[in-house]
Amino acid sequence: MNESPVIRILNLAKWTPSGDNTQPWRFEIIDDYRIVVHIQYAQEIVVYDLNDQNTLLAIGALLLTMELAATAEGCQMHVQHRQHAQGKLLAIDIRFSLDQTIQVDPLVLEIPRRAVQRRPLSMRKLTHSQKQSLQQAAGKHYTIHWMESLPQRIRMTKLILQTTRIRLRIPEAYPVHKSIIEWNAQYSLDRIPDAALGPGPINLKIMRAVLSSWERVQFLNRYIGAAWSTSLQLDGWTALSCGAHMLMLRDQKPLTDEDFIDIGKAVQRVWLTATQLDLWQQPEMVIPIFARYISENVPFTTLTDQLQEAASAKKKLGEIIDTDTDRVVWVGRLGFGPAPTARALRLPLEKLIISKPIGQHTL
Ligand SMILES: Cc1cc2nc3c(=O)[nH]c(=O)nc-3n(C[C@H](O)[C@H](O)[C@H](O)COP(=O)(O)O)c2cc1C
Repeated sequence: MNESPVIRILNLAKWTPSGDNTQPWRFEIIDDYRIVVHIQYAQEIVVYDLNDQNTLLAIGALLLTMELAATAEGCQMHVQHRQHAQGKLLAIDIRFSLDQTIQVDPLVLEIPRRAVQRRPLSMRKLTHSQKQSLQQAAGKHYTIHWMESLPQRIRMTKLILQTTRIRLRIPEAYPVHKSIIEWNAQYSLDRIPDAALGPGPINLKIMRAVLSSWERVQFLNRYIGAAWSTSLQLDGWTALSCGAHMLMLRDQKPLTDEDFIDIGKAVQRVWLTATQLDLWQQPEMVIPIFARYISENVPFTTLTDQLQEAASAKKKLGEIIDTDTDRVVWVGRLGFGPAPTARALRLPLEKLIISKPIGQHTL
């Protein structure tokens, strides 16, 4: 193996999770120990990526993954954010330096093993020490609020169903749902394969037929809402079937790009630690995303009924955590169970590596 250290690090780092498997990063390799991460923001407004926050979370997760992968090379990682351009953080300079005191972090093994499990999980409870390990992984600026008992999981399930109903009804979410699913697929390089979604084969067929046009979605919503909700009930069963829902709260409401990057690092450490404990996770990010739209007064849809629904969901979230909903930075369902049989893959490294973009200079 005569790959350079950065290539080995990037081959692991590419397994970082990103919203809808968008992989919003491109790598410019300077030499064996230096790279630039270029952030790829969505070209169009994505309803699930309010102010690019999901993109920045994924970038944070990437930085943590690279930092862990670097330990396997006996390296420390040094990070420098470039100055914002066009109001955005566009690039991050990364340098690795050899350090004989560095020990390989055991979480490195979990990087390729971590994956989303959207199917029902065991209802076995997490032990106190497992929850403690996850809290420790989150770090001192975050508190994990657990929803574990049956009544608590029912409460979370109702909240999830409410947000699912919103997202299936608003036209703004339709292009995302239509474009991110790869149909009849067990694996996908740059999207989510349908087999990795929650519904079974029959419901997937219905979903595919419905999603083929917005008119069909509207028809179903308007005239046979009940049929739509039957498939939603399955979502409900999945939401209930887990050991716990975790809500990660930050000590302060996040405001800056750096705050969201920091959240991404904490989330990835928690997720990898969960994997180490043989726990699977399904993120449930629609809950905090819709809540944040409401608190920022951003009308994310033209449908006023659905804006009201979102306001009601935000209120319920507030009652669950009994504090400002803006502090909720991550929500996910956790549980023991079988590994997913289908999963999102990643673009090959050759596609993620770019030559130097015009007009940008490295340090
Ligand atoms: C910021 C962020 C938000 C996400 N939100 C959701 C979500 O709401 N529901 C879900 O099922 N998966 C969610 N995911 C998981 C991604 O879809 C998943 O990481 C990606 O498709 C790659 O698949 P893998 O994690 O199994 O490797 C999210 C991931 C990130 C990083």
